Amino acid sequence: MIQRIGHRGAAGYIAENTISSFEKALELHVDAIELDVHICASGELVVFHDFTVDRLTNGTGEISKLTLQELKALQINNQYQIPTLEEVLQLIDKRCWVNIELKGRNTASSVLQLVEKYITKFNWKLEHFLISSFQREELETLRKLDSFIPMAVLTQASVEQAIEWATELKAKAIHPHFSLLTFENCLLAQEKGFQINTWTVNESATISHLKQYPINGIISDFPDLL
Ligand code: G3P
Ligand code: CA
Repeated sequence: MIQRIGHRGAAGYIAENTISSFEKALELHVDAIELDVHICASGELVVFHDFTVDRLTNGTGEISKLTLQELKALQINNQYQIPTLEEVLQLIDKRCWVNIELKGRNTASSVLQLVEKYITKFNWKLEHFLISSFQREELETLRKLDSFIPMAVLTQASVEQAIEWATELKAKAIHPHFSLLTFENCLLAQEKGFQINTWTVNESATISHLKQYPINGIISDFPDLL
């Protein structure tokens, strides 16, 4: 069965990367939730897609230059707060696995510390986590710090290059944009031992087409379409 992965929660229904969006994804019985993380100026990991708060909130400025207190004072769609990664993990509480995308720089080490905390203190398993990034540097840091943490190489450029990086980084999966996929390159990734989760697929016809490929998961804003 192809895994249903809720993109930024269930971003097609509720404002992306908010607690309500993650609750919606859980209501839709996703197999996994995808989310984006940055480190803010006071050092906490926050769940947010963009590098600035301008598009999504009533504030302005770079997320890395704002403290958690300043970020918590902002509103998304006049009603939601920016959550911390801890708040989201507490909500999910092992009800599905989590794909944490290292969006901001220097996030690898803090994410790893939090993953270790949830494994040792709250009985999460390593398999509950898959850490992905477009940034090779973050994935390299992660692998240097931990030989076993499951990771995925994100790409919107080339499946072949993602396979190369995944081999070097001992990754579990590659996460290519769906437009890059062919039956042949999916087979190649599978033969090399990598899982494939593709993004962000929101059209039923495209989902039906991709289901013919040897892939493991589809990341969608509408995870119930799967
Ligand atoms: O992780 C898949 C997808 O979320 C990557 O692109 O821009 O939505 O973070 P973006
Ligand atoms: Ca993402």
